[in-house]
Amino acid sequence: MTAIYEVRGSVAVITLSNPPVNGLAYETRKAAAAAIEQAENDAAVKALLITGAGKAFSGGADIKEFGSPLALAEPNLLSLIALVEACSKPVVAAIHSVCMGGGLELALGCHYRVVAPGSKIALPEVKLGLLPGAGGTQRLPRALGVEPALNMIVSGEPVNAEVLAQVPGQKLFDRVLTGDLLAEALAFAEAVADKRPLPRVRDLKAQHAKPEAFFQFARNSVGAMSKNFPAPLRCLEAVAAAVNMRFDEGIRNEREGFAALMVTPESKALRHAFFAERAASKIADVPDSTPLRPIAKVAVIGAGTMGGGIAMNFLNAGLPVTLLETQQAALDRGVATISKNYEAQVKKGKLKEDKYQQRMALLSTTLAYAEIADADLVIEAVFEEMAVKEAVFKQLDAVMKPGAILASNTSTLDLNKIAGFTRRPQDVVGLHFFSPANVMRLLEVVRGAATAKDVLATVMALAKKIRKTAVVSGVCDGFIGNRMIEQYSRQAGFLLDEGCSPAQVDRAAEKFGFAMGPFRMGDLAGNDIGWAIRKRRYQEKPGLRYSKSADLLCELGRFGQKTGAGWYDYAPGKRDAIPSELVAKMLDQHRAALGITPRQIGDEEIVHRLVFSLVNEAAHLLEEGIAQRASDVDMVYLSGYGFPLWRGGPMCYADTLGLFNVQQAMKRFARNPLDDGEFWQPAPLLARLVAEGKSFT
Ligand code: 3HC
Ligand code: NAI
Repeated sequence: MTAIYEVRGSVAVITLSNPPVNGLAYETRKAAAAAIEQAENDAAVKALLITGAGKAFSGGADIKEFGSPLALAEPNLLSLIALVEACSKPVVAAIHSVCMGGGLELALGCHYRVVAPGSKIALPEVKLGLLPGAGGTQRLPRALGVEPALNMIVSGEPVNAEVLAQVPGQKLFDRVLTGDLLAEALAFAEAVADKRPLPRVRDLKAQHAKPEAFFQFARNSVGAMSKNFPAPLRCLEAVAAAVNMRFDEGIRNEREGFAALMVTPESKALRHAFFAERAASKIADVPDSTPLRPIAKVAVIGAGTMGGGIAMNFLNAGLPVTLLETQQAALDRGVATISKNYEAQVKKGKLKEDKYQQRMALLSTTLAYAEIADADLVIEAVFEEMAVKEAVFKQLDAVMKPGAILASNTSTLDLNKIAGFTRRPQDVVGLHFFSPANVMRLLEVVRGAATAKDVLATVMALAKKIRKTAVVSGVCDGFIGNRMIEQYSRQAGFLLDEGCSPAQVDRAAEKFGFAMGPFRMGDLAGNDIGWAIRKRRYQEKPGLRYSKSADLLCELGRFGQKTGAGWYDYAPGKRDAIPSELVAKMLDQHRAALGITPRQIGDEEIVHRLVFSLVNEAAHLLEEGIAQRASDVDMVYLSGYGFPLWRGGPMCYADTLGLFNVQQAMKRFARNPLDDGEFWQPAPLLARLVAEGKSFT
């Protein structure tokens, strides 16, 4: 049953019932249409009420159907909405919880809309690289007003129903109901049952005092913000059509825009990212029904760069946190940094003063392990040295209550070894936050050999609570993200050896869409971090080739922004990267010493060497079982490494180009004597997929 039909008094109640969010899939549309016809034909029915079962009115069109014939199968969404609007009896939408996309478009086709407070209302299609394609761009400006509708459609952001109900002159909501939604909605339906004519949003006018000037201004600002996304500007043009065209013309125009956007690579990538994010929260052998351990109290060991940021995540979610350090001074510094971060948010108007005070009140500090013994989760973020971790985990094992989850934020050390310092390796897990930990969305959840399933299920649920994108990684050096970035950095180095300047590589990467090219990124993060890793690698893997240019840079003390100089020069106190003559000379000398004649390298080669190095390493990670699925790798790069969202992640990008082509490019790169031919041998998984004509995702 995907829509439930029942008659209450003189009102037919049609409840969309397609868990989890009442997506308007084919079967649901068919059942809803049948229910409307049944109500039309029942003389005892005077009015209809449409609502949603469970946790949503409706999350909109079923995104899983996109690209399949089911999406268009009749009754399609437009036909269903037309049926509702043409109904001879009043149709009332009783909205609660979530009303988005096609769900809102369906509600806009109803004659009346009543809403529960707190409902989240949105036309989020733009986030999928689309525009609302079932009348939303035509009806919302008519019901809500052109400016607020345009804001909602171009941003895709949800707005609380009460806020919208206060928009002057709005006709979106007829009433905000504060009591029992169904009972009050039924009473409303009965009250309007005999009113005629039936109000239709399409009959309203979408008006603006100065439409031309307004849309021109909006075009400029939206255009500037959405350089690589076609969708926002098409959304804007569709809304302009609501003002400039007749309703039916506007609908036709909207339909064309929707169809055109649907086939863009940007929309495909954004839809891939939507499902990738949800898939990442699932672990193949950990069922959804796994009982969770309660997490009401958190402790963080180490109040440095990471510890402070990690603590903030939990404070923000309303969980009490105790910070533990070895010295009072370190605790004081940690608390001061947290406080300063919150104050900055208050100053920017992003956080209310009372919220800041509430969060700080949840924070406590200690020097004694006994005081954190009753925490449900403890996260270690001390120095990256095995001996220090050993001491900490032995202490934790001695004092923590049974069942407490013991997590490490280590970025390079062997989690299984850390778990082995305790007598409860099943309770140990890696929680690899990224810096700044209170800002970055990515959280790698590192699954040790012994980590219990309920520990994994608990931290995955907790990640959602603290608004992180959690991706599970097996244990290996660098986990998913950093193991891949090492190959990317090696390629960036080889490109310099062969003739590129740092600025040329960065420009190509940024033109591709990376938030920052590899060299600007190095200057921001600190070039000494990579230097330390390379020094370790030179010992561990003496045969592995690296460009020595980054070592030469570090030998000059040019660690990046923090030393005022790195791959680029920096004016005192400024972050603008200025190409450095000294670095250019250093690179010339380095090439001359190696006997390399620099060559011109095009942007495509630069980008493909950088991105395909990620892809090949990821294929190894998948084969080794470190990453569960290719889309998880994409999530790591989208949420933690500034990979352009609209390209869907490195694996999605490789699929878009065609894996055959990617493999051919790798074979070409392997023939370059200045590159690492061995690395460029296509990973067995990649070769297999190509042979079978398959893709990663
Ligand atoms: N279609 C199909 N499945 C959907 C869906 C949709 N519109 N929205 C959510 N889901 C699925 C998710 O894939 C997930 O499935 P899974 O459990 O199998 O992984 C499940 O619902 C739960 O999703 P969330 O984890 O995101 O649940 P939340 O409770 O956190 O959030 C939500 C619910 C706010 C509805 C959120 O899922 C969301 O933002 N969904 C997208 C809404 C959207 O973009 N709608 C527009 C669709 S396009 C459209 O309507 C076109 C029309 O204009 C023609
Ligand atoms: P940091 O040096 O800024 O902070 C470490 C803190 O731990 C210091 O305040 C120190 O006083 C405290 N500490 C040291 N030994 C301790 C002990 N025995 N008991 C209690 N406190 C102790 O280091 P940072 O950068 O915060 O790193 C911490 C951990 O996080 C490391 O394992 C690191 O690899 C990892 N990490 C770091 C990232 C980064 O970008 N800085 C990113 C992801 C992980």
